[in-house]
Amino acid sequence: MKKSNVRKIVASISMFAIALCLFSFVGINKWDVPASDAGIKNPVKADAASIAAGKAEYTKTCKMCHGEKGDSKAGAPSNFTSKEFKAQSDGAIYYKINTGFGKMPKYKAKIKADNDRWNLVNYLRTL
Ligand code: HEC
Repeated sequence: MKKSNVRKIVASISMFAIALCLFSFVGINKWDVPASDAGIKNPVKADAASIAAGKAEYTKTCKMCHGEKGDSKAGAPSNFTSKEFKAQSDGAIYYKINTGFGKMPKYKAKIKADNDRWNLVNYLRTL
């Protein structure tokens, strides 16, 4: 094989590898919620008992990163008081609590009862 051809092949392989890296980088920086999860209905009524239980769990487990008010002034960049956050479905918020992302831990196994995680969704809605 000619030397220039080898160089071309090496160059194309490198370009391909770089493109692949860029795509996966963009991919892991998005917190995509599958439509099937976003569409899940909240089975727990947002009554006073649920919100109080959510608040207790939040204070114990989430406040250290998200702050008392849940706005972006605490350590985590997310803002539960923003329009963008409130525009999400209960299912989407529930999914994010379950799966985590980056520095946000996953709570599906840590907070065992599904209803406790739905209580958190109900509480976050009040912030
Ligand atoms: C160790 C710090 C930490 C703890 C503890 C934590 N979070 Fe988070 N959370 C984060 C970070 C950081 C993000 C932003 C992740 C990103 O977008 O990169 C986040 C994002 C979120 C989001 C998504 C916000 C949005 O804009 O859609 C929700 C919902 C959430 N957290 C809920 C909770 C709940 C509920 C708890 C407690 C059970 C909790 N978090 C505990 C760090 C934390």
